[in-house]
Amino acid sequence: MSSINYAEKIPNNVNLLNDRTLQRALEHWQPHFLQWWQEMGPTDFQASDVYLRTAISVDAQGWAHYGTVKMPDYRWGIFLADSVPARTIGFGDQMGEPVWQQVPGEYRSTLRRLIVTQGDTEPASVEQQRLLGHTCPSLYDLRNLFQINVEEGRHLWAMVYLLHAYFGRDGREEAQELLARHSGDADKPRILTTFNEPISDWLSLYCFTYFTDRDGKYQLKSLAESAFDPLSRTCRFMLTEEAHHMFVGETGLGRVVKRTLEVMKELGTDDPAKVRAAGAVDLPTLQKYLNFWCSSSLDLFGSEISSNSAANFANGLKGRPDEAQYEDHVLRSACMKLGTPEGEQEVPMLNALNEVMRESYLKDCEIGLKRWNRQIERAGFAFRLTLPSSRFRRSIGAWAGQPVSPQGELMGREAYEKALTSWIPSEADRAFVHSLMQKVVEPGKMAAWIAAPDRGINNLPVDYEYVKLQ
Ligand SMILES: [Fe+2]
Ligand SMILES: [Fe+2]
Repeated sequence: MSSINYAEKIPNNVNLLNDRTLQRALEHWQPHFLQWWQEMGPTDFQASDVYLRTAISVDAQGWAHYGTVKMPDYRWGIFLADSVPARTIGFGDQMGEPVWQQVPGEYRSTLRRLIVTQGDTEPASVEQQRLLGHTCPSLYDLRNLFQINVEEGRHLWAMVYLLHAYFGRDGREEAQELLARHSGDADKPRILTTFNEPISDWLSLYCFTYFTDRDGKYQLKSLAESAFDPLSRTCRFMLTEEAHHMFVGETGLGRVVKRTLEVMKELGTDDPAKVRAAGAVDLPTLQKYLNFWCSSSLDLFGSEISSNSAANFANGLKGRPDEAQYEDHVLRSACMKLGTPEGEQEVPMLNALNEVMRESYLKDCEIGLKRWNRQIERAGFAFRLTLPSSRFRRSIGAWAGQPVSPQGELMGREAYEKALTSWIPSEADRAFVHSLMQKVVEPGKMAAWIAAPDRGINNLPVDYEYVKLQ
């Protein structure tokens, strides 16, 4: 097991001390990162004491280490999961051969692109969420937001380490660019569209952490299969952090549902107007937020038919999440039937891997919905939350720009445009949700639109002062 050396400027378990050139390069990048954090990280809470989790080693025990720190003093570092002895390539045309400890020349630019794209999402989400602290529904939630933010910062470190260590000068330039692009910036936006959508309310944050961080989980899982071993080990450790982000999304949305049901029971009605008047999020509005964030996250998997995904798989760069669960790891003779607006098409499985991933992602998304629907059913109401069809509101792939309902029906353009505001949040819906966002910072107290969590962090009570505001 590798423990992490905190005596160094950059905490790490990659033996940075023995590679002076790399150490110097990363120490040169560090102040740029800290400056980015000050300018683009959470606004106005840099002096607060936050109860945060930091890794002190990469095994399960060392991982759950908690303490109070000011965010700028958080020890961002480079942590890789332990190497698997004699690991071999688990899929693609070179299956069974030893994994690579260096980047093969022929895959250099593709691997760099994969790492840069992943790396770009990490600081992007911090930028998207930077104003949320001002409207936190509780100190417990504020702390969770900051935990996610510092960990996304660390994920940026993880990708920057790979760029610096394995991609020479190009890698160093890309690392610099990761701090130069900004979410929503007109001239230099982040690479992926979803990461340029502002997140200005907590309902959106819970949706983002439920749907978009879950896309992150799937991307990391597929990169954890990579034949490029340093990338695999980096992503495996990132996944342990990512789990908390999805936990915040799933429990956050569950608490919204719980509170809404309490209000509905008190009022004895499911009338959305009355639920809103009582200061809770009515279920149809919640459904619209789910439709918006789910459809926006589905695009992140890419086109249904993709020669890039075929090449990445065949070459061993990017596998399927949990590759071991499949029987065929080469896929040279497998096919898949895909629905397109022009009818069903049979395509080589290798070219349909984005769709394979998207389908298993959607299955994973169903888990929370089942739980929330059970809550609604138990409370005696008929409403059911659903996931939109993977063809709804797509902006890339076979269904891009097609007028498809959340139920997956292709329909007339005019009727579609008209119905769209009843499927995704309208300006009025957003204004209503914003009106609920009032800062609550008394320990243990919750905003009126969300129920308290079942338990606090690390066995502490819910009313613990998770953030000491300064
Ligand atoms: Fe991340
Ligand atoms: Fe995340």
